[in-house]
Amino acid sequence: MMLVKEEQDKKKGELSYLNGEIIRVEGLNAWYGKNHVLKDINISINSNCVTAIIGPSGCGKSTFIRCLNRLHELVPDARVEGKVLLDGVNIYDEGIDPTEIRRRIGMVFQKPNPFPNMSVKDNVLAGLKFSGMKDRKKLDEVLRSCLEKAFLWDEVKDKLDLSGASLSGGQQQRLCIARALAVEPEVLLMDEPCSALDPTATAKIEELIISLKREYTVVVVTHNMQQASRVADYTAFMYLGKIIEYDKTTKLFENPREELTERYITGKFG
Ligand SMILES: Nc1ncnc2c1ncn2[C@@H]1O[C@H](COP(=O)(O)OP(=O)(O)OP(=O)(O)O)[C@@H](O)[C@H]1O
Ligand SMILES: [Mg+2]
Repeated sequence: MMLVKEEQDKKKGELSYLNGEIIRVEGLNAWYGKNHVLKDINISINSNCVTAIIGPSGCGKSTFIRCLNRLHELVPDARVEGKVLLDGVNIYDEGIDPTEIRRRIGMVFQKPNPFPNMSVKDNVLAGLKFSGMKDRKKLDEVLRSCLEKAFLWDEVKDKLDLSGASLSGGQQQRLCIARALAVEPEVLLMDEPCSALDPTATAKIEELIISLKREYTVVVVTHNMQQASRVADYTAFMYLGKIIEYDKTTKLFENPREELTERYITGKFG
């Protein structure tokens, strides 16, 4: 599915890439049946950064990130047009395997969703085992390193065989992050990952998001503007299916270009 390197480099040249860009979205439109919910989205996501997506309920934030790893098309009657280039290759090109895209671009949802009837350990390793990995030593290494990266190892190292569902909500969310990391993604999409959590659990996830960008690129949808300003390097403000403004987080919050952004971040609507 990958283009050979030369072809990739050529494509990159043609697109005159920004430094460090990992995803480029070009003319993205999305529909549910006749409802046109994403309207000509163009955006570049920088690698090893946290990018926040903010905007009022129903503006298309979840739909947008679900278009970034081909989850949108799983909804009956849903449709996408436009390009999402991951390292210069359009993930919607013919012959691209959506499962491989979803491995490279993982997703963490609003409500922690560990596999029910599965231990902590099996939750983390499910994806790898499914892909046929049997090497016990390697599996144990991945288990530990992913739980460490998800700031969960110390809390669960003596509970690896307990059900994932027996953990607290915040621990379950970190378990889901560990599970996403186990298949070695490049990008992690998070859809309001803290909205079901208390302030302490939220603070832990925020700290975790910031630490993840050393190795991964994170795109996080949030309703919480303080959260966006704490964790995100870049922020995009969406309204009625469009990206109204996209900039460095400090710029967008302190000195927005658009009046609509200003009105939203000062709580005048939404
Ligand atoms: N599965 C679906 N089937 C049909 N329409 C949908 C579906 N999911 C979302 N929509 C519609 O698409 C539009 C965008 O929804 P989306 O969930 O992307 O917004 P959002 O910004 O994530 O909102 P929220 O902040 O409430 O999560 C809305 O009009 C919504 O009603
Ligand atoms: Mg949403």
